[in-house]
Amino acid sequence: MNSKQKKIDKLNNDIALSKLGGGQKRIDKQHANKKLTARERIEYLFDEGSFEEIGALVTHRTTDFGMEDQIILGDGVVTGYGNVNGRLVYTYAQDFTVFGGSLSETHAEKICKIMDMALKIGAPIIGLNDSGGARIQEGVRSLGGYADIFYRNVQVSGVIPQISAVMGPCAGGAVYSPAMTDFTIMVENTSYMFVTGPNVVKTVTNEEVTSEELGGALTHATKSGVAHKTSENDIACLEDVKKLLSYLPQNNTETPKKIDYKIEGEVRDVLSDIVPDNPNKPYDMHQVISGIIDEDSFYEIHKDFAGSIIVGFARLGGRSIGIIANQPMAFAGVLGVNSSRKAARFTRTCDCFNIPLLVLVDVPGFLPGTDQEWNGIIVHGAKLLYALSEATVPRVTVITRKAYGGAYDVMNSKHIGADLNFAWPGAEIAVMGAKGASEIIFRKEIAAAEKPEEKLAEKEAEYAEKFANPYRAAKRGFIDEVILPKNTRRKLLKAFDMLENKKVERPKRKHGNIPL
Ligand code: HXC
Repeated sequence: MNSKQKKIDKLNNDIALSKLGGGQKRIDKQHANKKLTARERIEYLFDEGSFEEIGALVTHRTTDFGMEDQIILGDGVVTGYGNVNGRLVYTYAQDFTVFGGSLSETHAEKICKIMDMALKIGAPIIGLNDSGGARIQEGVRSLGGYADIFYRNVQVSGVIPQISAVMGPCAGGAVYSPAMTDFTIMVENTSYMFVTGPNVVKTVTNEEVTSEELGGALTHATKSGVAHKTSENDIACLEDVKKLLSYLPQNNTETPKKIDYKIEGEVRDVLSDIVPDNPNKPYDMHQVISGIIDEDSFYEIHKDFAGSIIVGFARLGGRSIGIIANQPMAFAGVLGVNSSRKAARFTRTCDCFNIPLLVLVDVPGFLPGTDQEWNGIIVHGAKLLYALSEATVPRVTVITRKAYGGAYDVMNSKHIGADLNFAWPGAEIAVMGAKGASEIIFRKEIAAAEKPEEKLAEKEAEYAEKFANPYRAAKRGFIDEVILPKNTRRKLLKAFDMLENKKVERPKRKHGNIPL
């Protein structure tokens, strides 16, 4: 018996044994530093003994290149269903030990079968990706298999949650399946995603780059935004998947499970001292978020990408909510190309899965510059405007400090359909900051003054007195109530309770045309 045949026999034996294992959990946190096998990942992800495999005996149908002698049960992907924290979930886990986890026609059929089932039943699907890409021996049949999966990714999008864990290689067109799911979580140092690898890059552009630099977890978490989250290792990644799932419903006809909660005092004094007196001094919006939400419940998405906006899930009185918040610590919280894209995508994710939105506003406007304009800030800013305008979930806004210019409109203003808009007493709602505004509208007066600097300061104070407050907006009803920071949690608990049964009918149409 040659060594290849021995390897195949061993793999088939392992598969048979793992199926007889009785579902005992053997993987624990001690395995944290090693790359797990597909079956170990499944074992860790699912509740003990709950996983049921489907298609374990499927084999490929290829006869080219001696493949008829290399028959491995399951054909490189484990598919099935089970419970994750008591909830029905479907999964496919690619097995790198079988032909490098490469995708054959039958491997794709198994994934499609499980996706179809998940859609029919209305339960989330989790893909554990670890694959060398299209099975080279199968040519176009494997490409067709990919396209069959892509097509289903789109059909189920917005109906059932789709989470991709990238736990090994993911190259070529294969990257488009995770890209079309709701979330992509990458394991640091062991996973990578790129359309063309370092060798092709070198040939075409003469750039020298490693796989890690080109498409590693860090790259996609910080530069491209392809990864919503990175995890230190396989175990941490599976924990992240489980936690993420806890904020999501089973499908788009349900709301996420709410934990019972009784509203009591809810005053949070800590919120009173976060915003500095000096309007140009930054503060960390994370402190505002943690001052409002249930303890330790924030699950940040895109943490290291486009830092001037924060997005993530949290619990408020046991209810799952999505938070979008300007971050004054990064570029004063401006809206730029990437921060607009990031927030727009998150808005749509929350809207399709019935997760109410809380928008915390401290925004000086859009980021100026040729880089931003030439990279399409107009169209990217419009994405966020569009996404919020079309969202029908309960939407509540709190302006903590600045809400200037177009960014005031975009950041969940009353005018684009927000349900309740609050402002803290120090909020400044105006076309622009007092200095810039005074320099424009009092230009002649300032130039003619004996002491222009003093005149500017005088006019600035006059403008600030008139406009840099929330009361003008409140008088017009654009702000529903000016609230003390310490009462914010209480107000929001009551607001989201009141909005629970919100229903909005939209005009009938095939679909809108979001500026992509
Ligand atoms: C068939 C494959 C394979 C593939 C790996 N293997 N990739 N078999 N088709 N695509 C096999 C190897 O022959 C080897 O088999 C085993 O898997 C492990 O691979 P190694 O190379 O030994 O592992 P490693 O050194 O860790 O390297 C992993 C790798 C490398 C970086 C993924 O295998 C690789 O570059 N593979 C090819 C990647 C690729 O170009 N794929 C096509 C991309 S294009 P033995 O029997 O020796 O153990 C694509 C188009 C999709 O996917 C389009 C969709 C629209």
